[in-house]
Amino acid sequence: MESVEEPAANTIIRIDKLGRSSCEHCGEVLEVSDFHVFEEIQCPACEGVVTVPGRFGNYYLLNELGRGGMGTVFLARDAQLNRQVALKVLNPKFGKDPTFVESLLREAKAAAALNHKNIVHIYTFGQEKDQPFIVMELVDGIKLDDCINSETEQSEMGWLDVMLQMSAGLADGERKGVVHGDIKPANILMDEGGTAKLSDFGIARVGGGSDDKILGTPLYIAPEKTRGKEVDARSDQFSLGATFWHILSGYPPFPGKTSKEVVLKRFEKPKPDIRKFAPHISDETAELLMKLMENEPDDRFDSFDDVSAAIENVMKNFERRNIENERRWYRLEEEAKVQQFLQQKGMKWMIACGLISLVILYIFFRWFI
Ligand SMILES: Nc1ncnc2c1ncn2[C@@H]1O[C@H](COP(=O)(O)OP(=O)(O)OP(=O)(O)O)[C@@H](O)[C@H]1O
Ligand SMILES: [Mg+2]
Repeated sequence: MESVEEPAANTIIRIDKLGRSSCEHCGEVLEVSDFHVFEEIQCPACEGVVTVPGRFGNYYLLNELGRGGMGTVFLARDAQLNRQVALKVLNPKFGKDPTFVESLLREAKAAAALNHKNIVHIYTFGQEKDQPFIVMELVDGIKLDDCINSETEQSEMGWLDVMLQMSAGLADGERKGVVHGDIKPANILMDEGGTAKLSDFGIARVGGGSDDKILGTPLYIAPEKTRGKEVDARSDQFSLGATFWHILSGYPPFPGKTSKEVVLKRFEKPKPDIRKFAPHISDETAELLMKLMENEPDDRFDSFDDVSAAIENVMKNFERRNIENERRWYRLEEEAKVQQFLQQKGMKWMIACGLISLVILYIFFRWFI
């Protein structure tokens, strides 16, 4: 198939244009060489709107899913396996750095060995036109940073459940010696069934060495990482805590006008208490977040299994309190009903007594006076 190279819609990523494509609605073969990739055209046969696809190696690019600091993520179809995937193409500058490509490959291999329902699965990794790319499981849903301050109805209990799912995925990574390295709302995707999945497992860490990256996500970064110290799974605990602090309250835990200000904020004392910004948050959740966000890794939990156990505990107590509250409400309602009943009864008795007294008085006056 004839192909001409062009940058993908306003990016510096180079992909191939196709000469012909078929309409996704009626299968009609369309001449698309005169159109840009991802341009919307009308099929002359069925009049349905078709997005002009592009090609990148063995993958047909169907649309753009989003962009991050390292590259662009596309909705793509694997031509060989005929399945839809998410294809992350890194910016060409990364392809020119052999040390970066080598470490990315090493991390991608380790991350590809993870097979957990709460981790976006990595299918493969490669290079095309000097651009490194990663093929991942496609998550059809939303990312968590779109939920912050949005209309999304999610209770504290609902978010604790998402946090527990993340902790389960991270525990799996920890057991296999893989650190995520960049937990943040944009890296948590939720599918339509409510399953939360962590993306960029291990891969983000490779880019984490550069200053750019530190400046890229200062909101959630662990203090030891900002000091250039060795990171481990406990650094992910800090980022998980900061991520859910932001999601639960709607405010970033370390606000600031510049990246430097944001980074320095985490060393200030006392630690930010979520209850000051979101008074409805329970004490137990607030304390859990505080522990995750301790500045010293030794003061956090020993492992993600312990984090999961702590979240489960908060959830259980939450449920118990809810049940107790429901019972209390039920009791109060019952008491109110009884009082109402007695009041009504009391009124009836008073009226009856009044009537009887009137009758007695009437008889008394009639007969004796
Ligand atoms: N596996 C996936 N399935 C569906 N959409 C995805 C997937 N991975 C990423 N995306 C989408 O692509 C967007 C860009 O992802 P990307 O990882 O490049 O950026 P980021 O996480 O915001 O930043 P960073 O460069 O720090 O990773 C995401 O915000 C998300 O909307
Ligand atoms: Mg990402």
